[in-house]
This record gives sequence, C-alpha cells and structure tokens, in this order.
Amino acid sequence: MQKIREFHRQSVQDRDAFWAREAQRIHWETPFTQVLDYSNPPFARWFVGGRTNLCYNAVDRWLDTQADQPALIWVSTEVEQEIVYTRAELSREVNAAAAILQQLGVEQGDRVLIYLPMIPQAAFFMLACARIGAIHSVVFGGFASHNLAQRIDDAEPRVIISTDAGSRGGRPIAYKPLLDQAIAQCAHGPEHVVLVNRGLAAMDLTAGRDLDYATLRARHLDAQVPVVWLESSSPSYILYTSGTTGNPKGVQRDVGGYAVALCASMEYVFGGKPGDVYFSSSDVGWVVGHSYVVYGPLLNGQATVMYEGTPVRPDAAILWRIIETHRVNALFSAPTAIRVLKKHDPALLTRHDLSSLDRIYLAGEPLDELTGQWLSEALGKPVIDNYWQTETGWPILSAQPGVEEIPPRFGSPTVPVYGFDVRVVDESTGQDCGPNRKGVVAIEPPLPPGAMSTIWGNDERFVQTYFRSFPGRLTYSTSDWGLVDDDGYWFILGRTDDVINVAGHRLGTREIEESVNTHPAVAESAVVGVADQLKGQEAMAFAVLRNPALLDEAGGRDRLEAEIKRVIEQRNGAVARPARIMFVNSLPKTRSGKVLRRAIVALCEGRDPGDLTTIEDPGALDQIRSVL
Ligand code: PRX
Repeated sequence: MQKIREFHRQSVQDRDAFWAREAQRIHWETPFTQVLDYSNPPFARWFVGGRTNLCYNAVDRWLDTQADQPALIWVSTEVEQEIVYTRAELSREVNAAAAILQQLGVEQGDRVLIYLPMIPQAAFFMLACARIGAIHSVVFGGFASHNLAQRIDDAEPRVIISTDAGSRGGRPIAYKPLLDQAIAQCAHGPEHVVLVNRGLAAMDLTAGRDLDYATLRARHLDAQVPVVWLESSSPSYILYTSGTTGNPKGVQRDVGGYAVALCASMEYVFGGKPGDVYFSSSDVGWVVGHSYVVYGPLLNGQATVMYEGTPVRPDAAILWRIIETHRVNALFSAPTAIRVLKKHDPALLTRHDLSSLDRIYLAGEPLDELTGQWLSEALGKPVIDNYWQTETGWPILSAQPGVEEIPPRFGSPTVPVYGFDVRVVDESTGQDCGPNRKGVVAIEPPLPPGAMSTIWGNDERFVQTYFRSFPGRLTYSTSDWGLVDDDGYWFILGRTDDVINVAGHRLGTREIEESVNTHPAVAESAVVGVADQLKGQEAMAFAVLRNPALLDEAGGRDRLEAEIKRVIEQRNGAVARPARIMFVNSLPKTRSGKVLRRAIVALCEGRDPGDLTTIEDPGALDQIRSVL
C-alpha cells in the first residue's frame, strides 16, 4: 500500500502542487492564478481566476479526436429502444437544447429544473445548462409532488424540463400530473415547462406555459450556441439531499473543481481512459448519476451508458448483456441491485462475454461481505466498494487501481482517496480515535475540488450543518460512524443521524413523518429505518391517532394504513413508502420530548433497546413491542 499512501500524503500535505498538476487534465480558457483560496474557512474556492466550462470539456474538447465514436449509449428495456449518440451527435443535441433554453430567456445564473426519467434528454439539458452557465437542479423521477414543490420553491427555476411519463417494469408512470400538482403548491412557478412527449401517457397542457420539446428541437437542430466561460467557482448545479430536517439541502457544486476532480477520479479510482466505455446504473436524479452517468465519463473522453430499466427485466442477465453488447470496461452499481441478482439463477451471471469488463464498483449503501465476495467469485472480477456522499461528489474511501492495486477486504471500502483528509474522531471531542475504535467519519477542511461549495442560498446552514459537530474545531462531519482497523482498512458502521438508506436511496425520516402527519386522523408519528436483507433498510412508521376508536371500526386499521401509504406515495414517491404503518397510543420519548428512535429501531430489529434511563413513559415502548 506504499504507493497509494504516498499519493494520499502528497494530495493533503502538498495540496496546491498536487491539484495544480491534476488541473492540467481539463481545458482552461483562462488559466487560474491561484490553486486554492481558503481565506474564508470552511468555504474553499478552487482554481481561482480560471475560466472553463463543463460542457466544453465533456463534449467539444473531444470532437477533434472522437467525433464519430460513441459518447452516450442509451439503453431502455422499458420501451425496448437503444440509441447510440456519437460525440458529434451529442454535441448537436446539446446545442439544440441550449438554444431552446436561450429562446426561453434562460441566462447565466438562472436555474433550470430537470424532472425526467432515464432518457437522453436529461443529459442533453444538463450539459446545455452547463454550456450557457445556467444552474441545473435535477430532481429524482421517483420523487413526487411535495418533494418537487419544495425544490421548485427553493431553486426558483425559470424553466422546468419534464415529460409525460417514465416507465417501471414496463408500466408507464405519469410525471406530468405530479409536476402540475407541485407547481400549484409553489409560490413562484416556472415561466415555461418543456415537455418531452414519449407517448406513454396523456397530458393536460397549460397554454402559454407548456411547450413541446420535439417542436422546439426541430427549430434549433442546427444551432451553434457559444460556450459561456465561467469563473471556476461559479455554481454549476444544485442537487437536493435529505438530512435531519424536513427541508432538503441544496448541495451546490462549482465548475472548475468539479471538472478536475471527476476527470482525475475516472483514471485513479475507476481505471478509465479516453475511448473506454463506462456504465453506471444509477438514476440521474442522484449524485452518482450526475458524477458518473453524465459528467465523469464524458469529461474523460469515455462513452457512458445510460440505462432505463431494472436489473431483472427482461431477465436477471440484462446488466451483463449490456456489458457484452457495448464492450463496457467498468460497471458502477449499488449493493441492492446485486443482492437482487443473488436470488436468480447464477448461470445468468456467466451467460455473456464479459471479457471487456475490468472491474465492478458498488456504492451508496453498505456492501455486505457475502454479497461482495459472491459477485467477485462468480464473475472472476474485482469488486470495489466505495464510500462517499452527495456532498463530496466523488469517492472518499475506495480502492484506487489507477494509483496502485491493493488487496480487497470485503466489508470495507478500503482506504482514503487522495484529496480527502479523512479521520475517525470521537463523537464528543472531535479528537482522532486511533485504530479499532468506533467514531464519526470526519474530513479536515478544506474539502477537495469537486466537493460541495455551500448550500444553495444558505451559507450559514452549510457551516452549521456540516462543520459545527465538534467543539472548538471546524471539521466536516459525514454523519456516518466508522472505524479503521490495524491494517488501515476502513469500515462504515451506519449513520449517526436520522437519514435512512432504502435500496441505495437516501431518505430523510423527518420528511416522511411530515407526510404521515398531514393525514387528518394522525396526531403524531415516528418513522425509522429498519434493517432489511434486500434493500439494506426499509422505512417503518408508527402513528398516534387523534381518535384511536377509528381502529375499532370494521376494516378501520387497513383503511388508515392504506390511506397513509397513499399520502406518502403522492407527496414523497413510492421509494419513501414505509413497509408498515403501525398504530400506537403514544411514542416513546425522553422527558424533554425527543422520540427515542434508536430504541424503536432496536425493537424492530429484535435487539435490546439499550439505555432507557431518560424515557418518560416505559409503557410506550411496551406498546411498540406488542404491535410488532
Ligand atoms: O451513509 C453513507 C451511505 O450513503 C450516504 C450517502 O448517500 P448519498 O448522499 O446518496 O451518496 C451516495 C454516493 C455513493 C453515506 O453518508 N454510503 C454511501 N456509500 C457507502 C455508504 N455506506 C456504506 N458503504 C458505502 N460504500
């Protein structure tokens, strides 16, 4: 591990020289004059004075050498369609999308919200925004009207890009009604909505506001939209992520730092080179979709596969079939997807020619030892667990085959990635824990290039949320528990807060509780994440009714449970729907009124609830026990 350790040491101790060298990977229209401005901690400005553009680096820069090579490979098993866009074709689509935005009055700094399924237009409009300096905010298509309304109100987009419908398991899922409901709830709706009509569901159009993408595209198909050269720390996008409150945080990213960090990670972490094919099965609505479906591979001159579909349809060999057909070199997926595959015929794993595939990367949730080992042995390929967050934009802990091959250790995302001065620290003092002691995973600022710059519109919340966990020190807290063993291998041991992770989807329990509480029969509720073999965790809700007698009515309990689930689905999307809604007379709370979530989770998982000295009414826990 000597090489990888030395590389990491340089990146932290000789930071400016390290990143000045890496910055040469991208095109700077105007060179930067300072590698890092950290005069206002914890705000880091990377590559000060440099002017560049994400779209130029992802698309235009490769036109000389790769115009006719695949750049975006779209595979949909939902609508049984496949389109390969060469870099030149991608450029044409992105320019058309940029011209559409400009026609609608979008200027540098304006926000554009993208609410789309996994279709190429999501990438076209992200890159189009980047081209003209507009700030995109992609909202996961699995989210519903309430999530969407919160994001519209916070980002105040001038234009929204959406569609009639997505599709899951071959069934259309309407988007437009959810979007209309969301806009109706907002203080400031968008001026225009551009709709990609896939012909999957009927749409009600609002005259003057709603416009047809195909018509606009035809008008602008040969447009050449000049690149807007942006100062390196200008905002490139906002991506909302859940935390401990009901209000998601708009993670804001820059331009230059992000371009450099992603480009470098494609080589060092993902072992990629220009011309390679990269396949990340994540949705564009999540950070992995931003960094490793759209930007990372394209910035590094690689082709990217965008997949609309599930890992098991038409059969559980579909991921491997895509890899064979498109000669994919690296696959990025989530542990849940692999756990799903484990339930199918293992012969499907080896039915296809996987000779192009070097490695598989899994992230977003803990990768259990058995699943990692099972996959690696079945395919005879290295399986790399990597750990990171929406906030960091790229891996914090991971093997880095582009630096040095190190022996894997299943159950561990191995070692710190260059650029991240990461520690395990004591929860109350912030001091380093030393080997084999559980603590909080923390990062000594400045955060490296590519990590979040701030929370959109709320610098104070950025500082308070992430940097004030430890007394007297400005240290970034990941809100994850971790441990380093004697050999220097890291382990992630779950969240320190109320964020849960369902099938790799990061959800805030507080957001789900707010939805439960909107049901008129509910007085209060607690939503917790409970271990699940397949999905990692699943949500479980406990509700106190205003009038418990409702439960005694014939079918009362089932009706209420179904109604509450429906409310959650409409407001937060199906991903947030709890496995069960259970009714209790009171919630276990401390004397100061805090819900004892850890105790509830322990009971749900059949464990001892631990220290209960602060509980106000022990009877409330007995109730939970009995409904379980
Ligand atoms: O709790 C950690 C878990 O997912 C959180 C971040 O989720 P998100 O913001 O959606 O970003 C996902 C980027 C891949 C983390 O705080 N997590 C992510 N990767 C791992 C993980 N937990 C254990 N092992 C991992 N490899």
